[in-house]
Amino acid sequence: MTTEQPASRSARPAVLITGANRGIGRATAEALAADHHLLLAGRDEQALAALAAQLPSAQPVVAELTDHAATAAAVAALDLPGGLAGLVHCAGILVNGTVEELSAADWERNFAVNVTAVSELTRLLLPALREARGTVVAVNSGSGYNAKGERGAYSASKFALRAWTDALRQEETAHGVRVSSVHPGRVDTDMQQELRAAESGAYETEKYLRPATVAAAIGFALRAPAEAVIATIDLRPRAIG
Ligand SMILES: NC(=O)c1ccc[n+]([C@@H]2O[C@H](COP(=O)([O-])OP(=O)(O)OC[C@H]3O[C@@H](n4cnc5c(N)ncnc54)[C@H](OP(=O)(O)O)[C@@H]3O)[C@@H](O)[C@H]2O)c1
Repeated sequence: MTTEQPASRSARPAVLITGANRGIGRATAEALAADHHLLLAGRDEQALAALAAQLPSAQPVVAELTDHAATAAAVAALDLPGGLAGLVHCAGILVNGTVEELSAADWERNFAVNVTAVSELTRLLLPALREARGTVVAVNSGSGYNAKGERGAYSASKFALRAWTDALRQEETAHGVRVSSVHPGRVDTDMQQELRAAESGAYETEKYLRPATVAAAIGFALRAPAEAVIATIDLRPRAIG
């Protein structure tokens, strides 16, 4: 676990993005790069360093998010002059299977990444978020509203994440931190490949949301006028509804 600091930091608002090396997280980094300093959080140090090198102002923050000591050390090493303007939770996992099939360990790793790690990282960053009157964006899912068979564990974690964002929004209103929950339908990423394989269905790229489209919705929540909070965004692929 390492945290690299760039030689110089501009006066750009800082945003930390988890899952920044691929999928929706990477698209979010690309969408915010022009006018933010980006803290690219993830496990793949090489991929994060390569991405940071392509962006105008970015640095990797390397941590396995379910390792709470490693996450705390990575956060403690951050230099955040002016606080943290945004925290975007894109890291997540899909745990497929029926109640009959899934073990306690499956349920635990599912909740560890999709819920507990989100809360713990946010807790560690709350002082910096309060200082900047920042915005927390949790990437949830349509599964945060509607559960389906063979995806109960994933849905349960996304229902829990929605409850968490609602609670955090209430708690942090007095501190000036706003909280947004973004609920995309199917998005063209590795996770969708995994899901379609589990469903034994054809992968129909043209029917899914592009990661950049979800990133634009995240940017909308982050850039909302100061007096507003975008509490939820329900974003669906037009071809599926
Ligand atoms: N794709 C969809 O159709 C879809 C739809 C609705 C909602 N979502 C949600 O959107 C979010 C992003 O999904 P995606 O499609 O972009 O997924 P993805 O392409 O599978 O990427 C997942 C990201 O999460 C990171 N991650 C997973 N476990 C981690 C851990 N323990 N510590 C640190 N990082 C970890 C991965 O890092 P590594 O590369 O190191 O594994 C990767 O960067 C997820 O919360 C997902 O539930 C996705």
